[in-house]
Amino acid sequence: MRFHYKCSDCGREFYTEGLMYQCPECSKENDGTHFPKGNLSVILEEDVLKRAAEKEHVTPDDFYPYPSTDKDSYPIGITPLMRPRRIQEKTGLGNLSFKLDSQLISGSFKDRASYEVALQAKALGEKKIVLASTGNAGAAASAVGAAMGLDIILFVPASAPINKLMQSVLYGAHVVPVKGSYDDAFALSIEYTKMHGGINRNTAYNPMTIEGKKSISIELFEQMGRKAPDAVYVPVGDGCIIGGVAKGFEDLYKAGLIDKLPRLIACQSTASDAISRAINNNDYRAINATTRADSISVDLPANGRMAAKAVITSKGWAVTVSDEEILESQLTLTRLAGVLAEPAAACAYAALEKDKDHLILELGKDAEVVVLITGSGFKDMKAFDGRASIPEAIENSIDAIKELDF
Ligand SMILES: Cc1ncc(COP(=O)(O)O)c(C=O)c1O
Repeated sequence: MRFHYKCSDCGREFYTEGLMYQCPECSKENDGTHFPKGNLSVILEEDVLKRAAEKEHVTPDDFYPYPSTDKDSYPIGITPLMRPRRIQEKTGLGNLSFKLDSQLISGSFKDRASYEVALQAKALGEKKIVLASTGNAGAAASAVGAAMGLDIILFVPASAPINKLMQSVLYGAHVVPVKGSYDDAFALSIEYTKMHGGINRNTAYNPMTIEGKKSISIELFEQMGRKAPDAVYVPVGDGCIIGGVAKGFEDLYKAGLIDKLPRLIACQSTASDAISRAINNNDYRAINATTRADSISVDLPANGRMAAKAVITSKGWAVTVSDEEILESQLTLTRLAGVLAEPAAACAYAALEKDKDHLILELGKDAEVVVLITGSGFKDMKAFDGRASIPEAIENSIDAIKELDF
């Protein structure tokens, strides 16, 4: 066996490599008012970790639960690790990096989870993947589905940015826009799977999403010279990305490849701060999220418990920023780093900017700090409405350029 499952709440273990979503006992308590219980962790068997530890260089394939049989048809990473010099100067953080997951094939971090669930489908002989998404996970699953020959059924809030919806349509998914929130789409997709079958890829509900997302930590480990950074700033909605980042470093730690875990900093909008409330006030209740950063707008975070636990265990913390600060930081990223990030992705940088004095106090100005840029701004150019515009066309004449004052 390569892996088994363990309930992240009660600790029960399940010795199967088949399809499992949640702990059958703990999930009975879930009623939609509090963060769900019973999410499963994947435990890699010791010989898998031992084999990885013996290698000169590791790749995510060494740590995936299901064998990476189709990596050439949908390559994941390695995404660039950028040293943004002008932002380093602005923040006073000389060892700041940006991990540009906006450069994955579908334009967001979500390719990582979708690839691992596609491997799960291949291993289990399934053709159909069902999911709910705020937009990016749907586009990612649809792209992977196209490349690997899987049918994708996608439930999304009808209000999702048009480019994300259009991407999924173009990749050939069955797109079902829902007149409701992301949380409504999430519930409907689970009912659909019960009725019509297929593998449900909902974030954190399917433990393989975390296993796919952990690949970023394996990449970071190699890119940073076989060590972990000191802190990672992660934009957080459902808490699955940050849970995946934590899991990647935990696996590296268990393999004996690193001797400390990085601080994990959960970055949220004040208008969607459920996980920050859990970290700061031990409050695990659903909220009413209203942020413009659509990808991190979540009422009931699907991985809320594991995410809060991961941040606390890492001795990290939560930072919340206003939507205005998020939108402003999008412009800072474009103008000082050449990075076009969607609002959710810019949230991590906005949080770093707000938190930098505290960070320097905790870890010093030479700390190796990584900000995850999780999604491309090309997916949502409407977010720039009213803040940037294309200048009026000039006449096609020499006189017209004489008047230009730049
Ligand atoms: C671009 C981007 N950043 C951050 C997130 C937040 O990830 P999570 O919901 O796993 O916390 C998402 C989720 O959709 C996303 O698409």
